[in-house]
Formats: sequence, C-alpha cells, structure tokens
Amino acid sequence: MKVVCVGGGPSGLYFALLYKKVRPDAQVTVLERNKAGVTFGWGVVFSDETLSYLEENDRPTHEAITKAFAHWTAIDIHYKGTCLRSDGHGFSGIARRELLLILQERCRELGVELVFDCEVDDYTKHTAGADLVIACDGVKSKIREKLASSFKPSLEPRHARYIWLGTKKKFDAFTFYFAENEHGMFQVHAYRFDADTSTFIVECDEESFQRAGLAKATTEESIAYCEKLFAEHLKGEKLLANKSEWMRFVTVKNEAWSHDNVVLMGDAAHTAHFSIGSGTKLAMEDSIALVKALVDTNHDVKKAFALYETERRPIVERTQKAAQDSLQWFENVKRYREMDPTQFAFSLLTRSKRITYDNLKLRDAGFAEHVRSWFTKTAAPAMFTPFKLRELTLENRVVVSPMCMYSAVDGLPNEFHFTHYSARALGGPGLMMCEMTDVSREARISPGCAGMYLPEHRAAWKRIVDFTHSHSKTKIGMQLGHAGRKASTKLMWEGSDRPLESGNWPIISASPLPYFPDSQIPKEMDRADMDAVKADYVRAAEWAEEAGFDLLELHLAHGYLLASFLSPLTNVRKDAYGGSREGRMRYPLEVFEAVRAVWPKNKPMSARISATDWLPGGVTDEDVVALARALKERGCDVIDCSAGMTTPDSRPKFYGRMYQAYWSDLVRNEVKIPTIAVGNISNGDQINTLVLSGRADLCALARPHLANPHFTMTAAIEQGWRELPGWPDPYGIVKPILPGPPIVARG
Ligand SMILES: Cc1cc2nc3c(=O)[nH]c(=O)nc-3n(C[C@H](O)[C@H](O)[C@H](O)COP(=O)(O)OP(=O)(O)OC[C@H]3O[C@@H](n4cnc5c(N)ncnc54)[C@H](O)[C@@H]3O)c2cc1C
Ligand SMILES: Cc1cc2nc3c(=O)[nH]c(=O)nc-3n(C[C@H](O)[C@H](O)[C@H](O)COP(=O)(O)O)c2cc1C
Repeated sequence: MKVVCVGGGPSGLYFALLYKKVRPDAQVTVLERNKAGVTFGWGVVFSDETLSYLEENDRPTHEAITKAFAHWTAIDIHYKGTCLRSDGHGFSGIARRELLLILQERCRELGVELVFDCEVDDYTKHTAGADLVIACDGVKSKIREKLASSFKPSLEPRHARYIWLGTKKKFDAFTFYFAENEHGMFQVHAYRFDADTSTFIVECDEESFQRAGLAKATTEESIAYCEKLFAEHLKGEKLLANKSEWMRFVTVKNEAWSHDNVVLMGDAAHTAHFSIGSGTKLAMEDSIALVKALVDTNHDVKKAFALYETERRPIVERTQKAAQDSLQWFENVKRYREMDPTQFAFSLLTRSKRITYDNLKLRDAGFAEHVRSWFTKTAAPAMFTPFKLRELTLENRVVVSPMCMYSAVDGLPNEFHFTHYSARALGGPGLMMCEMTDVSREARISPGCAGMYLPEHRAAWKRIVDFTHSHSKTKIGMQLGHAGRKASTKLMWEGSDRPLESGNWPIISASPLPYFPDSQIPKEMDRADMDAVKADYVRAAEWAEEAGFDLLELHLAHGYLLASFLSPLTNVRKDAYGGSREGRMRYPLEVFEAVRAVWPKNKPMSARISATDWLPGGVTDEDVVALARALKERGCDVIDCSAGMTTPDSRPKFYGRMYQAYWSDLVRNEVKIPTIAVGNISNGDQINTLVLSGRADLCALARPHLANPHFTMTAAIEQGWRELPGWPDPYGIVKPILPGPPIVARG
C-alpha cells in the first residue's frame, strides 16, 4: 500500500502516523511546502472531549500533547468596562508549531517519510503509483481546485476581517475583549497556549476595518493600531506577528469528498470558524475516521471513502452549523452593543446553541444564577416572568403557536375547537394563538379552515375567548389570514397544499403563479381585489375585537396571500405593488395600517413573517429588517419570526433545535422590537435560553402543544416552580410533586 498525504498540517500528519501504526508495511509519505518547524498562526485550542479521542487513538502523541498544554476552565468577557467570568468550560491550548513538531516526531518514530520544502502544484506528478492520495492541503487546497468538477466545492468568504497575532501576555482564561472607538467595534479572542505565549486574534466588521484604514495598513501598522486600541488590557505587552495579515474567514464545503483514489481531509474538505475552536479537532477526527474506515473495509480504498464520508459528514455539518451561528454572532456583534453586559455575555456564551441555560448551570451554577436573577429580579425562572405589550400583560413567555385544525365547516369553530382551545388555555401559556382564521370564505386554505366572515363565527369564537378569560390567566390571540394561491386545497392529512379534486373556488395572489405546477393558477390581484380583501380584513378585525380577543396577529408568512406580495419568488408584478422592496411591502403594509386603525389602541398587534424563503432569490435579511421597521412604525408591537413555506421546494437549510431563532434575534436586536421565536423549540431550557440571551421575548411552540396541552404547567413542574399564575384550582393538587412543603389535598 502506497499512501501520499499532500500537506503536513494536523490532519495529514495525524493520518500518516495512525495509518502507519495499523499498516506498518505501508509506504506513507507526507509532502509539505514549508520547512520543518515553520508554520502560520499561534496556538490552537482543544476541548476536553477531543483530548479523549486522541488518547484512545495514540497514547504517545496524547501524552506529548497534554504535556505541552496550557489548560484552563474559565471564559472572561470584557465589555463596557466590566469583566464577567464564566467557569467550568475546560479547554486546552497548544502552540500550533509545537503540535506539528510532536506529530512529526511520532511520524518519524513510526517510519513515515516526511518531505519538507516540497510545493505540490500538480499532485499527479508527486503521487504516481499511489494507492491512496490524501488531499490535506488546507483551506486553499490546490488538489480540490484541480478536481473541482468532482468535489463541487463551495467557498464562502465571510464578512468580518481578522488578524491572527500572538502576545507574551499570559491569560488565565479564554478571554474576549470588545472595544469601540471612533472607527467602530473590534473584538479579541485570546488564550494562552504555553507557559508564556498567547494567541490574540483581532476581528472586526468590514465598516470598522475600512474606517480604521486597516485595508491599507502594513502588518506593523495594524499591530500598532491594535496595541493602542487594547492598551488597557495589554498593559504594555507587545503584539507579535507570524505570517499575520488581515484575512476573511472562508467557509469551505464540498458536495463530494473523494474522487478515484483521492480523498479530502481537514480544512480542504470543510472549515469551521475559529470562534468555536474546532478546525484542528475536526481535521484530526477525520484522520481517525479514515484510518478506521480503511481497517473496517480491509483497506478497500473506494469502500473506505464511502464509509468515512457517511460517518463524518453529519458530524462535520453539525459542527459547521454551530460554527456558522458563532461566526454570525461575531460578524454582527454591533447589534448587541446596547445590551447590558450580563445579557451580552450570556448571548455570547449561547451563540452556537451548544450551551444552553441548563448546560451553563452544570458548568457554572453561580454564573447561571447571576444571569437568571439579573433578568427576572425575582426567584422565577426566566420563562415564568410576565411580559407586557401595550396594556396586555402575559403571565409568562410561552405562546401556543397558531395551528390550523382543518376541522370547521364553512369556517365555523365547533365543539372540537372549543375543547381544543379550552384544554390549552388551562395548560397555562402566557398567550394562546388561535389558528389562521380566514377573512372570507374564498380566503380559506381548505374547506375545514376556520373563519371570521359570518356573524356566527364571531359568536363561536366569543365562547372560546370567554372560557379562556374566565377559567385561566392565558391571553388569547386571533391570527387573521388569507390563503392566496394556497387556497382551495385539501385538508392537511389528505394532501397538504394539494388542489381539491372537486368543489374548488377561484383563487387570487400577488402574481398568477400556481403553487404546484398542477395547482390552480391564481388571478393576479387588481386594485378592486385589493380593496375588497382589505375590507374583509377590517371587518374580521372588528369582529375579533367584539369577540374579546386580547391580541390580533396579521399572517404575513408561509406563502399565503400577504406573504406572496413580500417574496420576490412569488411577486413578479410590474406595478407599484411589486419589484422593489418598497413595492412588495406596499399592499401588506396597507392592510396592516387598515387593521391597526380599527383594532383598539390599548391592545397589541403582532405580525407573523417568513423571515427567509430558504431559497436563493428569496427574502433577504435586509428585507426582513425593513419590513419589521415598517411594521413597527405602523404600530406593530411584536414580530413573530417564522420562515419558509413560500414554495413547495422551500426547505430549511438546517433543521435543528431552535433553528429559526436567528431571525428573532436579528429582528429584535436590529429593529428593537419585541419578537416571538418559533421553530423546534421543545422545552423550558430552550425558552429560558432564548429569553435570557435576548434572542426573543416570547417563544411559540406548535407541535409540543398538540402532544401536551399542559406544556407550560409541565415545564413549571420540571423546574420546581410552584408559582405559575393561573394554575386552575382543581389542578392545584399536582403541586405536592414539586419541591417544597407539601400542599394538603382536601375534598
Ligand atoms: C485564526 C485561526 C485560529 C484558529 N484556531 C483554532 C483553534 O483554536 N482550534 C482549532 O481546533 N482550530 C483552529 N483553527 C483551525 C485550524 O488551524 C485548522 O482547521 C487546521 O489547521 C486544519 O488542519 P489541516 O491539516 O486540514 O490544514 P492546515 O493546518 O492548513 O495544513 C495544511 C498544510 O498543507 C500545506 N500545503 C498547502 N498547500 C500545499 C501545497 N500545494 N504543497 C505542499 N504543501 C501544501 C500547508 O503548508 C499546511 O502545512 C484556527 C484557524 C484560524 C485561521
Ligand atoms: C398542524 C399545524 C398547523 C399549523 N397551522 C398554522 C397556522 O394556522 N398559522 C401559522 O402561522 N402557522 C401554522 N403552523 C406553523 C406553526 O405555528 C409553527 O410555526 C411550526 O409548526 C413550527 O413550530 P413547532 O416546531 O413548534 O411545531 C402550523 C403547524 C402545524 C404543525
């Protein structure tokens, strides 16, 4: 077996030594353009978890690496003149050069051939006769470029700028500094990696970079600038360069990781932003996985590649998602500059969603308690603090997300609806949103959808509202909608969004584009249609008030009528209601204004938006911010940040817990308006985390409330919180199962 690793970074060297261990007869060569002992950068960090993998796979390197380590457990966040310390995190730092020397030494010991000073321009010239070629030549991989048609790489340069410096200042914690000056905002990621040296990465957004003149600065000038900016922290220590220049982080992904006998590994295959300190870990874990795959397939290269990719890809994608969340936090850090230092620190710590409030409690109970008590000022968990919108006080931060029940006849809510909503109201959420309620018969998604277009609808809704008000402290909201081009379709369980087989009614939309190719073609709305629909909204809003609803939400999401105006994918109009962002927003805002005008001033209004279409050419973050600003100016009190469902192929790019919270964070902190986060939020810990970190004010849960109408009560029990207001008297008996003095049951 002849193996050539192109690139002598952590992945190439570690693979080479592990493979030589399992196949001592193999000829393993590493080709590296640098001289031995020469490399870029300073120190890298490993988590405690990574170290245990290294120990399992090669004890001598693990021992050598851990001997050279600087270990620490705290994270210090310096912001607005304060320093907040969170402990219990567990990292180790090592000089990148030291790590490479250890790996090189072990390679030599095992008989790997190391060739330095060897630039590999055309890999085929250096790998003749090789059974296996490892393309571990880093982020700018030439092999990946040469085989681009097979690997199909995507390289995404990110927005922020960074420079990787060192210093002799000895940090005793992973340290973040944030500094603002006349040019903008700059942050530092710093940590010690040996007895007397620390990594010091300075990062900033493009605007700050340009305004500070760093685009034209030499390395020396950049260092002088950073030394001045962080002088109070450096206390006279110098910043040091090692091939240091301002860069943009590039997120690398590849559709395929292998071609013939060539396989991508480490940064050549995928990158993860340095702010989650996982690039070296991923690279070395790739090496472990490929060696294992080769052993498991009896060194059948093709089968091993397939096994390696199957095993590694999901792990890599999860890490890249966390890295993406993390880098976006740092890119947009200016968004959080008005936050109190405590919330800012918690937002930073939870940025990639790997650390939640409960997880932080395990790491550092004192710090978690500091954050909680800063937020609530009482003994309550964050999710059980009230929230006020105009004159409406919600008792807690849980919202029953609107869910169509497809169980009405000609729009009329019936006993099913009464029971369904009454049960959820008794469960104790702060706010219960009723399902999308249509403003006319033609506005219904399906024949089973609920409406507010006949006087008997108003009476049926009033019965539900009255029960909610008289038997619970839950507030109740109506979501008004019009299905647009997604109208006249089957019940969800008979074929979601599929056209009816018979009994269709005419449909309208921003543009005459059918939802599915075989769906009805909607009529493009003219001004008369717009006036008629607006009048339907106004009448339905007046009736919602008469029925006693506490809050009114306008449905501007999920590809329905008003959303069809907002997205460029569904609005191709050439008139004043299409084209530019202003044009696309014009009609939805007109409807919002008309409804706000009749909805009482003391009662709040919300708007549910699709903050992304999950498709190229769809709604952008800039569109979302502009829409939220325009709604806020028109008296909207809270934005419910949902996503997608614009077209049949709009699928989440990433699906995971709290996967849409990014947009709630964006809207809340850019526009300074309260928000509701929604999307795979499933427990109290996640709600506490979102609320404490300032990513949302309220959290809407849909499917969890189908499974458990008493979600809020259950969350209170899980958190030992006995004071849930509105706990129905007959249900008080469950309180003895909570910690604290027993409550004696009577009767
Ligand atoms: C600022 C910054 C901070 C980071 N901090 C951390 C951290 O704290 N923790 C962490 O785990 N990771 C960190 N990383 C990421 C980490 O450096 C990389 O993920 C890791 O080095 C990837 O290893 P690799 O072997 O795949 O690639 P590399 O380390 O880039 O190694 C590739 C090697 O290939 C050689 N090479 C490239 N092209 C050729 C060629 N044509 N011919 C011959 N040789 C070639 C290069 O000289 C290099 O030695 C950081 C990255 C950056 C940019
Ligand atoms: C059965 C069902 C019906 C839904 N109906 C509506 C609706 O009427 N209006 C709306 O805005 N969203 C509706 N949604 C979307 C949910 O409100 C919510 O945004 C989505 O399910 C994600 O939340 P979850 O992960 O907590 O389920 C519906 C979801 C489900 C599961």
